[in-house]
Amino acid sequence: MAKILILNGPNLNLLGKRQPDIYGHETLEDVAKMCAEACTSGFETELRQSNHEGELIDWIHEARDTCAGIVINPGAYTHTSIAILDALNAFDGLVVEVHISQVHKREEFRHHSYVSKRADAVVAGMGLFGYVAGVNHICASLA
Ligand code: DQA
Repeated sequence: MAKILILNGPNLNLLGKRQPDIYGHETLEDVAKMCAEACTSGFETELRQSNHEGELIDWIHEARDTCAGIVINPGAYTHTSIAILDALNAFDGLVVEVHISQVHKREEFRHHSYVSKRADAVVAGMGLFGYVAGVNHICASLA
């Protein structure tokens, strides 16, 4: 079974409660279910979330040996973290960057992404479907 890591950065534990006008009412648990259902045969997903940059980096390192792909919503670390970019550069599988909101329509500081320098695909503004699109893309690309 090939594993796809669904990795979520800071504040995404509050999905469903935090700024629902921007991020909607569904939760990370809903994301986990949607991603598991989106897997085609031979693939499985595991969802993790951390508010800590170092923990996210440790999980990306772990994924080098255990995962075929990563769907990552790095939250605000998207716009600040060269360390997460470096960790992703050390990962050989497919990387899809997801943003629930359309970051390019929002504040200027959300327009730049370090993670995009590594991501094989980027989805923004499609709500939680972005995660499903990421899983679909990885399953189809590696089938
Ligand atoms: C986000 C967009 C980021 O700018 C923000 O800091 C988040 C969530 C999104 O999913 O739209 O925490 O990555």
